[in-house]
Amino acid sequence: MLIADTLFKTVTLGDQTIEILKGISLEIKPGESIAILGASGSGKSTLLGLLAGLDTPSSGSVRHKTFSVSDADEDARALWRGNEVGFVFQSFQLLPSLTALDNVALPVQLAGMTASEAKARALNQLNRVGLGQRLAHFPKQLSGGEQQRVAIARAFVTEPNLLFADEPTGNLDGSTGDHVADLLFSMTAAHDKSLILVTHDPALAHRCQRVVRIDKGLLEAVT
Ligand SMILES: Nc1ncnc2c1ncn2[C@@H]1O[C@H](COP(=O)(O)OP(=O)(O)O)[C@@H](O)[C@H]1O
Ligand SMILES: [Mg+2]
Repeated sequence: MLIADTLFKTVTLGDQTIEILKGISLEIKPGESIAILGASGSGKSTLLGLLAGLDTPSSGSVRHKTFSVSDADEDARALWRGNEVGFVFQSFQLLPSLTALDNVALPVQLAGMTASEAKARALNQLNRVGLGQRLAHFPKQLSGGEQQRVAIARAFVTEPNLLFADEPTGNLDGSTGDHVADLLFSMTAAHDKSLILVTHDPALAHRCQRVVRIDKGLLEAVT
């Protein structure tokens, strides 16, 4: 279970203080898929960053099982993310100087496994997303949809329990986006993985078991 309790996020820019999140509480069960809807600028990415331990709240807490994500320091959060978290971004965020295979192998190597073990796992994941024939391609030699499939392989390669996706189809055309979404849902459905999906697309959101909406820094249930 991932539990967020009364999250506030305030940022200061010069003499201006912006309250982005104003007391958000949320519980996500193992195996659950949840969509977070909201207008551009409503705080969706900020919330996802807090839930995934990429950033810390101004107040409130995030807990996963027995681990206090929001209290941990950056090193402890990085270790936790390496074991428990996969992240898919709108803009793919692949490393341009690494091949598809090496992009996917990297998180496994960072987790301490040998290079050959990491490559074997990366190959397996790239086959799952249908890119077994693109191993030596660099990101710029791949289409947007292919790059996002590499990013999905990378997100799943450490077998995380929490899969975060921030507008994963936002940079893709309709049918390519549908294929990428299909992959995300099928790969999280296989085990007890939770999918936390941020989108402004209601049709994509409603493919999740639960939909919430963020508005003016607060969360409301949609379904
Ligand atoms: N580090 C930051 N400093 C200042 N303002 C920020 C920062 N991060 C986000 N914001 C502001 O907070 C609001 C929410 O941002 P974001 O979470 O990216 O929204 P969304 O993902 O829903 O489009 C926006 O108005 C944005 O400009
Ligand atoms: Mg965003």
